[in-house]
Amino acid sequence: MENKMYDQVPTTEPQRQFYYMEKAKSYVEALAQQLGRRPTFCVTTFGCQMNARDSEKLTGILEKIGYEEADSEEADFVIYNTCTVRENANNKVWGRLGYLNTYKKHHPNMKIALCGCMMQEPEVIEKLQKSYRFVDLIFGTHNIYKFAELIVATFEQKGMVVDIWKDTDKIVEDLPVDRKYTFKSGVNIMFGCNNFCSYCIVPYVRGRERSRKPKDIIREIEHLVSDGVVEVMLLGQNVNSYGKNLEEPVTFAELLEEIEKIEGLERIRFMTSHPKDLSDELIEVMGKSKKICKHLHLPLQSGSSRILKEMNRHYDKEQYLILVDKIRKAVPDIALTTDIIVGFPGETEEDFLETMDVVKRVQYDSAFTFIYSKRTGTPAAAKEEQVPEDVVKDRFDRLLKEVQGCAAKKAEALTGKTEAVLVEEVNEQDSNLVTGRLSNNFVVHFPGAAELIGKIVNVKLKECKGFYFYGEAVE
Ligand code: SAH
Ligand code: SF4
Ligand code: F3S
Repeated sequence: MENKMYDQVPTTEPQRQFYYMEKAKSYVEALAQQLGRRPTFCVTTFGCQMNARDSEKLTGILEKIGYEEADSEEADFVIYNTCTVRENANNKVWGRLGYLNTYKKHHPNMKIALCGCMMQEPEVIEKLQKSYRFVDLIFGTHNIYKFAELIVATFEQKGMVVDIWKDTDKIVEDLPVDRKYTFKSGVNIMFGCNNFCSYCIVPYVRGRERSRKPKDIIREIEHLVSDGVVEVMLLGQNVNSYGKNLEEPVTFAELLEEIEKIEGLERIRFMTSHPKDLSDELIEVMGKSKKICKHLHLPLQSGSSRILKEMNRHYDKEQYLILVDKIRKAVPDIALTTDIIVGFPGETEEDFLETMDVVKRVQYDSAFTFIYSKRTGTPAAAKEEQVPEDVVKDRFDRLLKEVQGCAAKKAEALTGKTEAVLVEEVNEQDSNLVTGRLSNNFVVHFPGAAELIGKIVNVKLKECKGFYFYGEAVE
């Protein structure tokens, strides 16, 4: 009777994946017998927090089926969760695959899997199929929930297993996840992106925007909180457009208000906010919230209205600056951070000076600066007026100097204050110190021990070191 049930592969999710997890478990057990020890795995994550969260899902499944985490890539199963947002993210993966190939020659039984955004590019798959035959499994961003099923395929099939979907409208809930931190967690609230900024490959590799239902998100957070989580980071490429396409539409601000009510949850962060969709309603909710952190990441990309138009960002310099004023008025002590691209095709010195002007006026607490990278298939890649490398480099250095100077000034201004800090880890360099984050995302190191991890402690910021502080716990 039992066997018969076992033979029926469920067609609904997540039941189907739990069936495959059981099956995978028996293969892993057999492998353990053969090796005389538990087989090990190593998941390496490239890219953004979205990928980091996906890797926790992969790890959850690997642990469930009996693999043990290794602390290096000398493992029985190596998984690269890739990113392709800029060319150098890609290059890192190609480089490291070379090393893995050499390692696998001496360890023929090891498995190698590649997944994530880079795998959604047809040219990448072609290259892998042609010249990287030692890879055992390739899958993409849309079918990551099928990991258990795909692992079973690698045990049952000879040769490379490749499963890439072009897009999906599916969201599979309730699969195992293994969190990297006990006290904080990323929570996907939406997947994909509909914005098609002209330089960006994300919409092509992550598919169309789809939101999770509020009740699924709330249930997940309640569950996390009962498991010791005090801080959540709500994840989406454009959280401000959350809920627009749900059967019963909900705004991001409404979702935040619901999350705020969850007892035991102390801090709420979110990422990323597109300026074009940041509503007055959201600003109001941020202003009165007790739990939303005093930090907003608001990608500028460029300060030139002309370039912003070319980038398809749907806001101009003036609108961005007005938005910043509104936010600062509602939440006076908020930290603002941003992303900026230098060297977008056709960017002139004048355009660049507009970017510098916004940076000087906004006074960001920190900024990620990127050199424009041409991504195949995006509209910007077809533009002919690429900016010469030396010009880009010069602008990049000037911008970096400006944002670093400003960040240091911002940090300096906090020196001497006492702030609530969520302790994250024992300091890597000095085990007498612990490291934590303020609500505004600045980092502080102060004397303390591992028992403090996950706790919120008041810390006096005694010494500013540019981008971080040394402090002391106070009662
Ligand atoms: N959805 C987020 C960003 C995701 S990608 C948002 O809209 O803010 C993270 C950052 O990478 C972007 O903000 C952008 O600054 C940068 N980026 C994206 N594509 C790029 C490219 N082709 N070259 C250089 N930087 C890029
Ligand atoms: Fe890329 Fe723009 Fe979507 Fe962000 S909003 S992921 S930059 S297309
Ligand atoms: Fe990279 Fe994909 Fe994130 S391309 S930045 S890992 S969404």
